[in-house]
Amino acid sequence: MNRDLQQQAQKVLLDNWRDGYTIPTAQLYPFQWNWDSGFIAIGYLHFDPAKAIQEFASLFSGQWSNGFLPHILFHKEIKDRYFPNADFWGSQAIAEAPKQLKTSGITQPPVHGFVLEKILNLAADYLPKDFARTYYQKVYLHHRYFYENRDPHQEGLVYINHPWESGRDNSPIWNEVYKKWSLAPEEVPPYQRVDNKLANPEERPTQDDYDRYVYLVDLAKKVAYKDQDIYAQTPFAVQDTLFNAILIRSNESLIRIGKALGENVEELEIWQAKAIQTFKEKMWDEDLGIFTPYDLINQQAISMREIGGLLPLFANIPNQTQAQQLVGTLDSPAFQVAAPDESYQCPTFDATHPSFEGHKYWRGPIWVNTNWMLHQGLEQYNFLEKALKIKSDTLEILSRLGFYEYFDANKAILKDQKVGYGGNAFSWSASLFLDLTND
Ligand code: GLC
Repeated sequence: MNRDLQQQAQKVLLDNWRDGYTIPTAQLYPFQWNWDSGFIAIGYLHFDPAKAIQEFASLFSGQWSNGFLPHILFHKEIKDRYFPNADFWGSQAIAEAPKQLKTSGITQPPVHGFVLEKILNLAADYLPKDFARTYYQKVYLHHRYFYENRDPHQEGLVYINHPWESGRDNSPIWNEVYKKWSLAPEEVPPYQRVDNKLANPEERPTQDDYDRYVYLVDLAKKVAYKDQDIYAQTPFAVQDTLFNAILIRSNESLIRIGKALGENVEELEIWQAKAIQTFKEKMWDEDLGIFTPYDLINQQAISMREIGGLLPLFANIPNQTQAQQLVGTLDSPAFQVAAPDESYQCPTFDATHPSFEGHKYWRGPIWVNTNWMLHQGLEQYNFLEKALKIKSDTLEILSRLGFYEYFDANKAILKDQKVGYGGNAFSWSASLFLDLTND
């Protein structure tokens, strides 16, 4: 069975391949996305390593001279298929941005360190000369950008300035920030979204979410994406769990790569030690048994159970006691939408919370990339049975419905469905399936 599905998964990637890079899904996201590309490169490593290398290199063609790596690269003009489109961001007016390529002005979780390590390990025979050193330096520069510009109190934790930067656009955790931020209609520039016409609007973010997304983009653009100016004015600056965990996981890989190359990794090790220590202390919520994000503007933790709070396992952050507690939380009703044998894992948000919505984007459904990270994290901590459950649930869901964007965690609901949620032929669902089945 896996063999057929592997072929279908490869086809999804090849159909989404566009001359050097891969789009997430033609239906909704017709450009190159940052963390998508990282996960996609991992899939290519299993059948076409040269494409993995090209994917990665093409993503870094969008890197700004200050190290910043944007969340979308608009390699081609495509009108009316995505909002905010290339011109809305105005990257060409920014001195640090590439001249030949339009990009967005916000970033996404920095997966590149661990993706680069996987490329170096699995595509060793295909690497262009100096690839390892060149890309080690580019990723390093990206991390330096974060520590120098997104860590105002020098804590070792970086903040995101837009919910889109988290990769979990409409998670209920951001609503906690919105509650303290009143937005008048006249503050939002005129815009026309298209996502809710291309996909089922019931499965997409609300109008209020979009108004805030657009307001924040507009604010950043008005100050030419200067972080200090954004920070001085923004209602949204959050030290996110998943974003920082991924940065830490990538630091870990960069340190190993740097050492193997004979580079000086001292600065990386300093960042890393501080990051892990602050993360363990500041982000841990003993009552909830999970890590939680911190809202820098309102100076308070966002006390909710959500997938990002479990994923520090992927970055080897929790101590043994915390790791045990995380597994307890994973086994609790917060991450089981029905009785244990009626629940697929792992939903992305607390199923016992009133904001949980089982069919809506990042408010409850299962996503393949978060399951892929959770699976690896549980393995690293030797919770092998749990890891296996996450893996077999993921494979079962994908083989039943195909490579959709996200899925219902309720077995009874999923059983009667013919399709998953969101976009179809979604690249990272396919590429991480390939990784899980070649593991
Ligand atoms: C959505 C997801 C984000 C992803 C993008 C492209 O915005 O929330 O994580 O990168 O789509 O697939």
